Amino acid sequence: MNAQSRVAIVTGGAGGIGRAIAARLQHDGHRVALWDLDGDAAAQAAAALPRSASAGTSLGVRVDATDEASVASALRATLAHFGALHVLVNSAGATGPVANVADCDLAAWQRCIDVNLRSVFLCSRAAVQPMLAAGFGRIVNLASIAGKEGNPQMSAYSAAKAGVIAFTKSMGKELALTPVRVNCIAPAVIETPLLAQMTRDALAASLAKIPMQRAGTAEEAANLVAWLAGDQCSFSSGATFDLSGGRATY
Ligand SMILES: NC(=O)c1ccc[n+]([C@@H]2O[C@H](COP(=O)([O-])OP(=O)(O)OC[C@H]3O[C@@H](n4cnc5c(N)ncnc54)[C@H](O)[C@@H]3O)[C@@H](O)[C@H]2O)c1
Repeated sequence: MNAQSRVAIVTGGAGGIGRAIAARLQHDGHRVALWDLDGDAAAQAAAALPRSASAGTSLGVRVDATDEASVASALRATLAHFGALHVLVNSAGATGPVANVADCDLAAWQRCIDVNLRSVFLCSRAAVQPMLAAGFGRIVNLASIAGKEGNPQMSAYSAAKAGVIAFTKSMGKELALTPVRVNCIAPAVIETPLLAQMTRDALAASLAKIPMQRAGTAEEAANLVAWLAGDQCSFSSGATFDLSGGRATY
């Protein structure tokens, strides 16, 4: 089976990185469902993807990826539309509260953990059976270098992304003897609307740590995800792939 007959879900598909990933997967021949909390933006992003002869039209689905029933309903809609599932990219996320731990609001902390980590659990759990039934599966999670290093004043985000890295390791091992591969990427700064959620100082500090002295692009993230979503990613699972302009050294 090649990408021409595969179905991919991209959560956060209306966002900067998710949208670029959806475009790349569609370009490669996948039929793509863009899941997003902003249903209108997901529908618009899906409609804006160039229609290809092999992939046909893509689908925009409103979902709250932190909500079990909403994820189940979005999966039903996707399977009803496309008939199968082969690739899941968990890109929904948000930076959450920017505050010292001593000043961090509990509700804001929990929301950040939910959108970045609970969502990955709920969507990945829902995807396993359809992927096993299809005989092929690739799950790619958007972690962050914050999950490896810990960003100051971003403890909830850093903890959630560290959780995504550990969740990926765990699930990758669990499914190692199946045709499903589970990996994550750990970007440093990628030029998207998410950066508007960071303070100017935090953004400048993150950029200053990148040896290539620039932010990455959403297309560069999509290139790596496209490889992780395909056949050539066959002997890697539970792994974390850096995308940091030379910043990550371990
Ligand atoms: N941009 C960066 O520098 C960077 C760096 C490292 C990691 N990441 C991670 O990459 C992923 C994508 O980031 P981005 O820059 O595209 O962000 P973005 O803000 O542009 O897009 C995030 C998308 O997620 C959606 N979303 C939020 N909550 C949701 C929910 N509950 N259910 C469904 N969708 C929801 C938003 O509506 C939005 O469309 C995130 O997980 C982010 O943490 C980004």
